[in-house]
Amino acid sequence: MTTYAVTGATGKLGRLVLDELLQKTDAANVVALARDPAALADYAAKGVQVRAADYDDPASLDAALAGVDRVLLISGNAVGQRERQHGAVIDAAKKAGVSYLAYTSVLNAQGSKLALAGEHVLTEKLLEKSGLNYDVLRMPWYSENYTGALGPSVEHGAIYGATGEGRLSTATRADLAGGAVGALLKSPGGKVYELAGDTSWSMDEFAAEVGRQAGKPVKYVNQSESDYAKTLEGVGLPPPVAALLASTSYLSGFGELYSESKDLSTLSGRPTTPISETIAAALKG
Ligand SMILES: NC(=O)c1ccc[n+]([C@@H]2O[C@H](COP(=O)([O-])OP(=O)(O)OC[C@H]3O[C@@H](n4cnc5c(N)ncnc54)[C@H](OP(=O)(O)O)[C@@H]3O)[C@@H](O)[C@H]2O)c1
Repeated sequence: MTTYAVTGATGKLGRLVLDELLQKTDAANVVALARDPAALADYAAKGVQVRAADYDDPASLDAALAGVDRVLLISGNAVGQRERQHGAVIDAAKKAGVSYLAYTSVLNAQGSKLALAGEHVLTEKLLEKSGLNYDVLRMPWYSENYTGALGPSVEHGAIYGATGEGRLSTATRADLAGGAVGALLKSPGGKVYELAGDTSWSMDEFAAEVGRQAGKPVKYVNQSESDYAKTLEGVGLPPPVAALLASTSYLSGFGELYSESKDLSTLSGRPTTPISETIAAALKG
């Protein structure tokens, strides 16, 4: 029997990966890695092996990957620490002799101007040097990033951003979990997948669809990068986070988060979720 380990299993993507894996293989073959194993008591009750693992504690990673065949390394969220953290998982995977590892990178990572892409590129380089059999799963922005706060947008009839007319190939976390599990189960390794959503959209189209579904006009207000950062600060985001998001929004106007790749629906074996469905789910609350 092949065993599959998932790092970051307590996270929003990680839990969806566990759910998807449980549809495809016996729970006993699934190893969920968590800093706090108690957080996954619901999965342990289903028969999943929950093991303690901290990207900052290499010994915990060695123990957690013992006897594992295939690993999904979900990137961490400690920006600035991630090359070292991911490197620790890669080293532990080598020591454990895993037969395959898939890593969640960012869409179009090579040559990307996005500030967040740097650590992904560095991790991809570590993988190149590792000698492991691996795939890179380059992920777009989650569709949910755009639908998390639609209530105030509908109320004020406006959605703000700095993306201009740029197109975005987002996908839902559930779509991406399907792609990741497709890779874990079927991919031979040696591939870089660009896991774009099947259909792209612009912020104007997004706002129009929100308005259509909400039954009132909602317009897209395009701002400069610095004005959008101020808008984000105005709704309570800390300045460094606002600056990072505004920069991402601005750069995505130049295609940084756009791709025509159909790797995601091919790997998952199903079409990706149109943005209209993600909007509908968010508006239903
Ligand atoms: N594509 C996008 O739009 C997008 C957006 C945001 C983030 N991301 C990236 O995609 C990843 C997964 O997304 P998500 O939505 O599932 O994020 P999330 O809900 O924030 O989950 C992050 C996961 O990383 C784990 N983690 C953090 N530091 C760790 C450490 N030192 N050792 C072990 N595990 C650690 C967290 O564990 P704990 O439960 O212990 O904290 C959690 O399971 C993120 O971590 C980030 O790299 C992508």
